[in-house]
Amino acid sequence: MKRMASIRVQRGGPDQSPTFDDFEVPCHDGMSVLDALIWIRAHADETLAIRYSCTNANTCKECMVKVEGKVVYACTERICKSTLIVEPLTNKRLVRDLVTDIAPPKEKLFNLLSCPDTSC
Ligand code: FES
Repeated sequence: MKRMASIRVQRGGPDQSPTFDDFEVPCHDGMSVLDALIWIRAHADETLAIRYSCTNANTCKECMVKVEGKVVYACTERICKSTLIVEPLTNKRLVRDLVTDIAPPKEKLFNLLSCPDTSC
């Protein structure tokens, strides 16, 4: 019999009141929160906004979210409970769902200075 995990995910954009969607995800030993979120996008709701790059190398730092109120890398956080709440970072500007603006301030300044078009 397949084990299932209940994943409650915060949804919404910066100008909306956050809502939560619940998903039942088949899980296995060693499965990460990012694995579950990727499964949700592939099998339950392709509109779920998530960000990741290196998948589980813990090098890109793009998958940071809050799980059970604790800031973690979704790719290295293992699902060890049958019920989890996943939320976006609260100290960064929300883009949508679990995606926040994580670009460091210096990088934003560089992008502005390097843009030849003054309208960007
Ligand atoms: S996906 Fe790169 S650190 Fe998590």
